[in-house]
Amino acid sequence: MNAPVTESQLDWRLIGTIDDVPLQGSRCVKNGETTIAIFRTAKDEIFALEDKCPHKNGPLSQGIVHDGCVTCPLHNWVISLESGMAQGADSGQTASYPVRVEGREIYLSLSPKV
Ligand code: FES
Repeated sequence: MNAPVTESQLDWRLIGTIDDVPLQGSRCVKNGETTIAIFRTAKDEIFALEDKCPHKNGPLSQGIVHDGCVTCPLHNWVISLESGMAQGADSGQTASYPVRVEGREIYLSLSPKV
């Protein structure tokens, strides 16, 4: 079994600044075929999820950001920005990615959280 990857071993990439992401909105970055949505909360917290709802692949980047979650624009599932887990009675999980903010710069790791 592989040893867990520590934060210092992650491959951090500078993807822009907090100001590049609309407040309570998102901005997408591409990693090959994968689209990753970078979300900014009302408190300037930054999270990264694959732009794919665990229900039917709705574009979470076009959802409403609130209370540490995003509501999918297609059928209103509520997804945790931290874990990618569907909330309430719904079940499923989208990939979430580690992000680090230094000053106002956002660094993203392309190794999904487990
Ligand atoms: S695709 Fe997101 S709630 Fe249905």
